[in-house]
Amino acid sequence: MLATRTWGTGATGSRLVTGTTTIHLDLERELAEFLGSDDALVFSSGYAANLGVISAFGGTDALVVSDQLNHASIVDACRLSRSRIAITPHCDVDAVAVALAGRQERRAIVVTDSVFSTDGALAPLSDLAAVCRQHDALLVVDEAHAIGVLGNGGRGLVDAGGIGADDNVIRTITLSKSLGSQGGAVVASAAVTTDLRNTARTFIFDTGLAPSAVGAALRAVRLLRADPTLAAKACARAGLLAAELGAPPPTSTVVSLVLGDPRLADAVADRCYRDGVLVGCFRPPAVPAGTSRLRLTGRANLRGSEVRFGAEVIRDAVKELA
Ligand SMILES: Cc1ncc(COP(=O)(O)O)c(C=O)c1O
Repeated sequence: MLATRTWGTGATGSRLVTGTTTIHLDLERELAEFLGSDDALVFSSGYAANLGVISAFGGTDALVVSDQLNHASIVDACRLSRSRIAITPHCDVDAVAVALAGRQERRAIVVTDSVFSTDGALAPLSDLAAVCRQHDALLVVDEAHAIGVLGNGGRGLVDAGGIGADDNVIRTITLSKSLGSQGGAVVASAAVTTDLRNTARTFIFDTGLAPSAVGAALRAVRLLRADPTLAAKACARAGLLAAELGAPPPTSTVVSLVLGDPRLADAVADRCYRDGVLVGCFRPPAVPAGTSRLRLTGRANLRGSEVRFGAEVIRDAVKELA
């Protein structure tokens, strides 16, 4: 409310024209401080952050090496960049090294989710960073599912791997998951953000993020800094939920309950909603055919009794409809 009263409901224009308020700059500074980086740039979404970075640093003289299970926003970013794209098998560092070693292009970018939203796998970031260093490539890491969830106090996997200060490592994040707001950001060295301010088309030609979303994200970053236990609590809630459902222990806050048939997944999600539990439902094209699933997320402020109630409703719905 305070941000809206002070700066209005909209940012009024693109960031380089009239869409930068002091609260945007505060968020960028505090995000960079929290994540141990020189600088950050706030975009209107995580999707726009990925498009902006990869299309700015890609091009017809660049190779982009992308994990086969990367998020759709990365897939679209690769296409938009007009680079040659090499899709590598999931979390396969050797395949990334082979792709980089065989490149004809002047420049190369390796891009990966840090926590993969579909299967929860953690990317081998330290090994990828070493391979990128060896081949003079940029490493772009999408930390959408890691910030506020994994690493020291929720600082994510790049920080946990000790590669956050590397000049060739660029993080993208969303403000809409653990930070509970909307928008996205790029977290990187000052050299990278200075470049992006003048080259990332989704930064230059897109209206700045609404002040209310900026204010909410800023408050969330301050909460995370003030309480370093929040991230671990959210993961513990996901662990409890998975145990109650008989699902494998999750690597982050994401719990996937694979049901296979998309109609069954939809019907179970509808039944849960009727019975007071809102669950996400992923079906093709979000996941491959035959792997439709319920996608559940642990939250730090859920009570144990709430998690157990949710699990009971889900179990009953699956038993009745499968
Ligand atoms: C891994 C990943 N990257 C990027 C995004 C896009 O972020 P946003 O919703 O802020 O555009 C998402 C959102 O679902 C995501 O899961």
